[in-house]
Amino acid sequence: MNLRKLWIQTKKELDSSNINDSIIESEVILRNVLNLDRNNFFATLDKNIPTKQKLQIQNHLKRRLSGIPLSYITNNREFFGINFFVNKNVLIPRQESELLVEQVISFCKKNTKRQFNIIDVGTGSGAIGISIAKHLNNVNIIASDISDKALQIAKKNANLVNVNQKMSFINSNLLEKLKSPVDVIVANLPYLCSSEIEKLSPEVQNEPEIALFAECKGISLIKKLVEQAPNHLKKNGKLILEISPTQVTDVISIFKENFPESYPEIHDDYTKMQRAISLET
Ligand SMILES: C[S@@+](CC[C@H](N)C(=O)[O-])C[C@H]1O[C@@H](n2cnc3c(N)ncnc32)[C@H](O)[C@@H]1O
Repeated sequence: MNLRKLWIQTKKELDSSNINDSIIESEVILRNVLNLDRNNFFATLDKNIPTKQKLQIQNHLKRRLSGIPLSYITNNREFFGINFFVNKNVLIPRQESELLVEQVISFCKKNTKRQFNIIDVGTGSGAIGISIAKHLNNVNIIASDISDKALQIAKKNANLVNVNQKMSFINSNLLEKLKSPVDVIVANLPYLCSSEIEKLSPEVQNEPEIALFAECKGISLIKKLVEQAPNHLKKNGKLILEISPTQVTDVISIFKENFPESYPEIHDDYTKMQRAISLET
């Protein structure tokens, strides 16, 4: 069977399971197994595919149809224009979290003579901290997580992106193990409520629970982090967190209680949802 027929067949099977973007997903599955970039994919549509690779494609497809996210099958997710290795031990970085990276980069660019110490709390794959490190010279990034398995992936990505000289890694429950105050605290912590689990797509249900859920309607970790932050954030520093749009009012109150002299600012994501909150000290 040639590549074109295999592509059509793969797409049809994804369609029959109501998987959106079946045309792109089928292309990505095929390119991943055949190790082809887009140009070579379209240039070789008439080429016959050897049985061994056909079987690998069928295996990928079977996993995808069982609800495993495509990024876990291909072990890849692009975030902030960078390819990250991902597997079932880390959250698949979301495009909306690029907002946090943009905000931190613009804060640090205001003073290029200053060296910024930044902690990325709940780093997961390292997507946020590594993207910041890739775009700025004047930064030291501490990537922290409570999951050792996630930290292993973050270290792997720092090596792949070649920013490891700007990074260090700690296993810490929120800021507990942070030794000295920092200039920036950035975090995309779990903020879903566990009662929402059944409403989530099979793909999201395949992501690690520790990366998704927090107690008290999803707000408990955010609250604890903001309570710890005043002891760990330097003057002229920045705190920025990703939140659910439903948590805005509660999180503003938590910010005001813990930082009475600063003004919280809400940031919209690319879909115009209120997705992040920040303040400067
Ligand atoms: C929503 S994921 C975000 C991952 C990554 N920052 C991103 O944006 O793609 C949350 C991360 O927080 C970590 N985490 C959960 N509880 C934590 C805690 N108490 N202290 C530190 N990290 C925690 C999880 O292991 C997970 O990697």
